[in-house]
Amino acid sequence: MNKRRILVTSALPYANGSIHLGHLVEYIQTDIWVRFQKMRGHTVYYVCADDTHGTPVMLRAEKEGITPEALIARVQKEHLSDFNGFHIRFDHYHSTHSPETRSFSEAIYHKLKQIDLISIRAIEQLYDPVKNMFLPDRFVKGECPKCNAKDQYGDSCEACGAAYAPTELKNPYSAVSGAKPIQKSSEHYFFKLSDPRCVDFLRRWTRESDHLQPEAANKMLEWLGNIGENKLSDWDISRDAPYFGFEIPEAPGKYFYVWLDAPIGYMGSFKYLCEQKQINFDEFWQKDSRTELYHFIGKDILYFHALFWPAMLENSGYRTPTKIFAHGFLTINGEKMSKSRGTFITAESYLKQDLNPEWLRYYYAAKLNGTMEDIDLNLEDFIARVNSDLIGKFINIASRCAGFITKRFDGKLVGGTQYQQLRTIIDEHFATWRPAQIEHAFEERDYAAAIRQIMKFVDAANEMIHQLAPWEMAKKPDQDDALHRACSLGIQLFYLLSHYMKPIIPSTVEKIESFLNCKPLTWPTLSAERSVSALLLPEGHMINPYQHLMIRIDAKQIDALIAANKQSLSVGDKPGNIGQSEQTKKTSQAFVPIAETISIDDFSKIDLRVARIADAEHVPGAEKLLKLTLDLGHEQRTVFAGIKSAYDPQHLKGRLTVVVANLAPRQMKFGLSEGMVLAAGGNHPGELFILSPDSGAQPGMRIK
Ligand code: 2FM
Ligand code: ZN
Repeated sequence: MNKRRILVTSALPYANGSIHLGHLVEYIQTDIWVRFQKMRGHTVYYVCADDTHGTPVMLRAEKEGITPEALIARVQKEHLSDFNGFHIRFDHYHSTHSPETRSFSEAIYHKLKQIDLISIRAIEQLYDPVKNMFLPDRFVKGECPKCNAKDQYGDSCEACGAAYAPTELKNPYSAVSGAKPIQKSSEHYFFKLSDPRCVDFLRRWTRESDHLQPEAANKMLEWLGNIGENKLSDWDISRDAPYFGFEIPEAPGKYFYVWLDAPIGYMGSFKYLCEQKQINFDEFWQKDSRTELYHFIGKDILYFHALFWPAMLENSGYRTPTKIFAHGFLTINGEKMSKSRGTFITAESYLKQDLNPEWLRYYYAAKLNGTMEDIDLNLEDFIARVNSDLIGKFINIASRCAGFITKRFDGKLVGGTQYQQLRTIIDEHFATWRPAQIEHAFEERDYAAAIRQIMKFVDAANEMIHQLAPWEMAKKPDQDDALHRACSLGIQLFYLLSHYMKPIIPSTVEKIESFLNCKPLTWPTLSAERSVSALLLPEGHMINPYQHLMIRIDAKQIDALIAANKQSLSVGDKPGNIGQSEQTKKTSQAFVPIAETISIDDFSKIDLRVARIADAEHVPGAEKLLKLTLDLGHEQRTVFAGIKSAYDPQHLKGRLTVVVANLAPRQMKFGLSEGMVLAAGGNHPGELFILSPDSGAQPGMRIK
């Protein structure tokens, strides 16, 4: 076999926040791929690190009254414990605040400067005169220039979705001190991405071989523009003090922007590993290296990895990535993760609720297909797939056969002629079985296709056992041999299938290895001349008594998880939102009754029903209203709801909500409204949350 030498990275998580289920899509995707390659016997190093620099880390440390170094050390521990919990097995996990990353950052910068790819010019930015610092966009707030919504960030409005420059905000204020920002000029350092040396190289790099997925290559062509046209701008790589980062050599008070040293952190982390393990760093990073380099990233940071990073590497004398693998975003139940809905789920809370991390690994794998499409974690589907496919089908093969082997045959699988018969049965039955397709799907990161193939085999195995019905044989005294053969067949098929499941559920497969009393499973290679049965456990193999390998998900566990993550916050879903005092201010309004006490009879006069939002659309000319078509089980109603500031109609379709069904119809300017949808609301535009019943509720159900 041609032994490949591969270096793999996942994007470096910021050191100012917790790992959540969105992050895990990428780490699980990468970890599965790395485990698969390692099982095949290739040499693979998987490195990552915390992305530690920048203003948010500096300010958060200040707020906590600790040094940034203390903060990043604590967060690194938390991140590592989350990753371990989900069986993400890095070969090394570093920090960008490290001597290695500093040294590569300086060297790359020097090289780029030497060949005149760095320029310096003054730019105007918003400055906090109280805090004496320049303000990143996320730290300027004010009124949206388009819809006047208050408390919007400096780059985009959450109420109307408009994007703008921070200088366009009305009545801007600093999110750090509350002061009114002023415009101030300062010198910045730029990487000359618009230089023909970068542009020409990037055009070539995009065209030649398949460094990028087709949709990413198209994005690149859009960014690069037509030949002759130069759409790229130089990249601002410096930030002014105060800043937590590496000071730029010979530029006092100027720091490398966090995004400059973040990808260099891949090299820093690997360098550290090389020192520990005597690996040849240059072999992996020198120009024309014959090793492979893969970066797994989210599609939101493609710009940094497909433009700046290869251009920086190429011009500073290093190799460029073999491939960049971008994935889509995670939605939960079809929507963006949300703290108020309890779907902004942290890795830590998932583990704390005692949910099995491999349930999620399996579910994500079943959804990931190697493209940049978003993936949805539908919680009902999650429960159903794990319980019915992973446990009900796969694990079930072992649980229905193992008991007989232990109790009736002292743990011994068939040998001799029986074994030969078993081999023949398997070879005949699985003559068209093509494990090479599974291998190919893993290589292409199309785990969804791999799982479909594996599950076909699982179904066929279950069908065979079902036909043989060992539980019936066990009742008849003269069928010992047949029983032994049937159960051995089940265990052998389970052994075979476990190989393919190992990259996805490694910890369960470790338990399987000890139950089957076998060596750690490696990738089974099946050449054309070998039949499937060549991959089985040897004849007369002894197995250990069956212990539970995995338990089912109880829907209550998911309810508890959502409840544990539910926060009654109206702000704070965004990184960079640092105003704890602001959050408290917004959520700690005292409870003041708004109406007199009513009797239960009064309450029961309100006919509250579960409704499915069958359709949701904008109403031409209406500032606040959306037109909803509600399905109440036996009838449809039209309701105009004042929720436009908080919801995109696309995201409402299909959702369940609560409607007041016996409210007198009201003729409105835009039509007749036949009910009212219930929503919680605060005092700010966009602060609206429509109610949803728990899963399982059906349209038309009475709420009492
Ligand atoms: O987007 C992010 O979360 C960044 N911290 C990713 C950095 S990836 C690499 F460039 F370091
Ligand atoms: Zn707006």
